[in-house]
Amino acid sequence: MKKILFVCLGNICRSPSAEGVMAYLVNAAGFQEKIKVDSAGTSNFHVGEEADPRSRHHAQKRGIILTSIARQFNPRKDFKEFDYILAMDQKNLRDLKELDSASKYIEKVHLITNFCKSQEYKEVPDPYYTGERGFELVLDILEDACKGLLEKLKRELN
Ligand code: 4NP
Repeated sequence: MKKILFVCLGNICRSPSAEGVMAYLVNAAGFQEKIKVDSAGTSNFHVGEEADPRSRHHAQKRGIILTSIARQFNPRKDFKEFDYILAMDQKNLRDLKELDSASKYIEKVHLITNFCKSQEYKEVPDPYYTGERGFELVLDILEDACKGLLEKLKRELN
C-alpha cells in the first residue's frame, strides 16, 4: 500500500485537481486497493469548501470528478501517515519543510513536477487569479506528473 498526499495553498484548486487526476489514473490501472490519494492545504483559508467551481468544470471536461472537501495539512498526523507528500509549488514545499523542522520526513516531501516526463514546468502555477487557460495548464501539468508518479509507484509495489 502507498499513500499519497497532494498539497497546495488553499486545497481548492491545484491539490484537489491532482487528487482527482491521480485517482482517475489509479482506478484505470486497477490499483485502487494499493494506492490511496488525498489532498490538503498549507493554509486554512478555505477549510470545509468543495473544490473551486472552475477546477471542477475543467476537470469534468476530461472525465475527472473532483470530490474533495478542503482541509488544512496536519503536521502531527500527515507526515507519518503518507508515503509521498507532494507540493504543487516552491512556496508549498518551503512551508512543508518548515513544518518538518527536524527534517525527519524530508525524504517524503517532493515537488510534484519532479515526476513530469514531458512538461518542463518547475512548479504548478497558482490558477486562482488567472483565467481558463490557467486551469487547463494545471491539468496538463498534473496529468503528465501523475502518470510519471504512477509508473514509479507501480515499480515500488512490485
Ligand atoms: P490552490 O489555489 O492553492 O491551488 O487551492 C488557491 C486558492 C485560494 C487562494 C490562493 C490559491 N486564496 O488566496 O484564497
